[in-house]
Amino acid sequence: MTEQPASPVELAHYDESAYQRTHRCGELRIGDVAKTVTLAGWVESWRDHGQLVFIDLRDHTGLVQIVFDSSKNAAAHDLARDLRSEDVIAASGLVRARGQGLTNPKLATGEIEVVAASLTLLNKAVNPPFFPGDAEQVGEERRLTYRYIDLRRPAMQRALRVRHTAIKAIRDYFDAHGFLEVETPFLTKSTPEGARDFLVPSRVNLGSFYALPQSPQIFKQILMIGGCDAYFQIVRCFRDEDLRANRQPEFTQLDVEMAFPSMKRVMTLLEGAVAEVFKRVHGLDVKPPFQVLTYDECMAKYGADAPDIRFGLEMCDVSDIAGRSDFNGFKSVLAAPPRVPGRPGGQVKGLVLPGGADMTRKQLDDLTPFVQGIGGKGVVWFKVKEGKLESQQAKFFNPALQAELIAAMGAANGDLILVIGDADRRIVNKCLDALRRSLARQRNLIPQDVFRFCWVVDFPLLDWDDEERRWVACHHPFTGPKDEDVDKLKTDPGAIKAKAYDLVLNGQEIAGGSIRNHRMDIQARLFRTLGFAEEDAKRRFGFLLDALKSGAPPHGGVAMGIDRLIMLLLGTDSIRDVIAFPKTQQAVDLMSQAPSPVDDKQLRELGIAVIAPPGKKD
Ligand code: AMO
Repeated sequence: MTEQPASPVELAHYDESAYQRTHRCGELRIGDVAKTVTLAGWVESWRDHGQLVFIDLRDHTGLVQIVFDSSKNAAAHDLARDLRSEDVIAASGLVRARGQGLTNPKLATGEIEVVAASLTLLNKAVNPPFFPGDAEQVGEERRLTYRYIDLRRPAMQRALRVRHTAIKAIRDYFDAHGFLEVETPFLTKSTPEGARDFLVPSRVNLGSFYALPQSPQIFKQILMIGGCDAYFQIVRCFRDEDLRANRQPEFTQLDVEMAFPSMKRVMTLLEGAVAEVFKRVHGLDVKPPFQVLTYDECMAKYGADAPDIRFGLEMCDVSDIAGRSDFNGFKSVLAAPPRVPGRPGGQVKGLVLPGGADMTRKQLDDLTPFVQGIGGKGVVWFKVKEGKLESQQAKFFNPALQAELIAAMGAANGDLILVIGDADRRIVNKCLDALRRSLARQRNLIPQDVFRFCWVVDFPLLDWDDEERRWVACHHPFTGPKDEDVDKLKTDPGAIKAKAYDLVLNGQEIAGGSIRNHRMDIQARLFRTLGFAEEDAKRRFGFLLDALKSGAPPHGGVAMGIDRLIMLLLGTDSIRDVIAFPKTQQAVDLMSQAPSPVDDKQLRELGIAVIAPPGKKD
C-alpha cells in the first residue's frame, strides 16, 4: 500500500445513528455469517482492486476486512476508493465466509469478511506521522509525541486492558478482605522516601510550598492511629529522581496499611493480591507462599537485594584464597579499612560462567570497561582448563591455590571464573550483579515466560551515606528495628536489622514495606540516630510524632509498584510501555510539552522569579 495525500473531502451530514455499532471489529467469527452488522473504527489499510475495494477496519478489539463491491453498492464503493489510513468510518453490511484459499489465519476474524451495504465517513484523517502498525520501527520520541496514534496499536491497547484488569483484581481483593480505600492528599508536606520532592507553590500562602507526596506513608500511618484498621489505595506517587527503565517521576502504587499486624500477615496478604492478579490476567497460578531470602543471603549469593533467581551464576566469596595469592590487586583491597563503620571491609568475590572458557579475547576484554562503567576497577578472568587456571593473573596463584579456587567456586574444565575485588564491598556486589545479569542475558540462561518471586527480609535498618558521613534509613525513617535489636540504636546502629520486607519478581523490586515504629520513644531515638535535630524532626513530621503519642496501635504495611508489576506481567523492559501518558528519561511529556515555561503574570501571583539555569541567557 502506498500512502497518498488525503484529498480534501467534505464530510456529508450524518447523525449518531450512523455509528451505532452492533459488534466490535475483532469479535466477528464464522458463526456470525449471514448477520447484518454495523461496525465503526479506523481504516488500518486499503486495497483498491477496481471493482472491489478492501478495507481492514480497526478498533480496540482487532481488525476485520470489509469489502466494497461496485456491483452491489456503487455509492459506498466510490466513497471507499477515497479512504486512507486512519480515516474514521462506520459501515454496515452482511457477514460472509471468505472464499476457499482466501482466509487469513493471522487474523482472529480471518475466516469472514463484511460485504458493505453502506459507508459513512465520520472523519477524515491527515496523513499520520506514522501508522500504528509500523510503531515498532518508529523511534520512541515520535511515538510519545503522537501518543494518540501510538495508543491505537494493539500492544498499547493490551497494556491498558491488562492494567485495568490488574487494578480491578486488586480492588476486589482488598475489598473482600475488609480493607477500606481512602484517598490521601496530593498537596501536602514532604514525605521522606529518599527522592527529591516536586514542589507546588501556594498562591494563598505566598512563599510557602506544598510537596507532592513521594508516597502516602505518613497519612496511612495516621489513618491507623485514627482507628481505620485496614487501608488500601491505588495512588499516584511523585518522586524527583534519576529515571531508569523501571522508574517514572509519577507512578502508581498499591498502598496498604493495617493495624495490629505481623510481618507474616502483611506478606501473606500481598501474596494473595499478587496471585489474584496473575490468575485474572494470565490465568496463572503463582502458588504462594513465595520463597523468603534474607538480605545477607541475597547479597552473598547475588550481590543484590533484588535478585533475579530465575537462573544460577551464584557468587562466591574468595577473599581468603585471594588473600593468600601473590596478586597485589586483590591483597591491597583486602587490607583496606572498612568503608562503612561496623561493617566488613574489602572483598574479593567471583562467579562461574559454565562453558564460558569459549569466550573470545575481545569478549573478555570488553568486560573491563563494562565493570568500570559501574564504578569497579576491573575484572580478573580465569579460564579453567585441565584443572588449572589460564589467564595473565594465573601466575599469582600457585598450583595448590589454583586447585583451591576452582574447588571453592565449583568450577569445571571449560568454565570461566570472573573475580572482582574492591576495598568497598558494595562496589564488588554492584559490578558482579551487573555482570551476572548481563552474561545471563547474552548467553540465554534466563528462562522466558516464568515468574519467580522472592521476599527479601532482615534488611539492615540503616545505610551509611558516604557523602554526608551519617546513617540514613535503608527504607524510610518510620521502619521499625527488630525487637531484639532496639538497644543497638545506641550502641551499634549498623548492626540493626529492620522489620522490613521487599517483594522481588524476576530481579525487580515490585513491593516494599515494614512494621513501623508505633512507639514514640523508639521513633524519637531513631531520629536522633539519623542525625535529625529535635527541632528538625518536629518541623518535618511533628504531626506524626504528636499522633504517635496519642494512642498509636502497632501498625505496618506495604506498597507495590503497579507499573512495574504490569511491565513484568507483559514482559516489557520499559515502564513507558504500560503507562498511557508517560514521561521520557528527561521527565518530559513530549505530547503536551510539559514541563513548560509559564506566564510572568502567573509567576508574579506566586511571588516567584525564575533564575536562568546555568548556560541559559534568559
Ligand atoms: P517504596 O519506596 O519501596 O516504598 O515504593 C514501593 C514500590 O513502588 C515502586 N516504585 C516505583 N515505581 C516506578 N517509578 C518509581 N520512581 C518508583 N519508586 C518506587 C517499586 C517499589 O517497590 N511508603 C513505602 C511503602 C511502605 O513502607 O509501606 C514506599 O513507598 O515497585
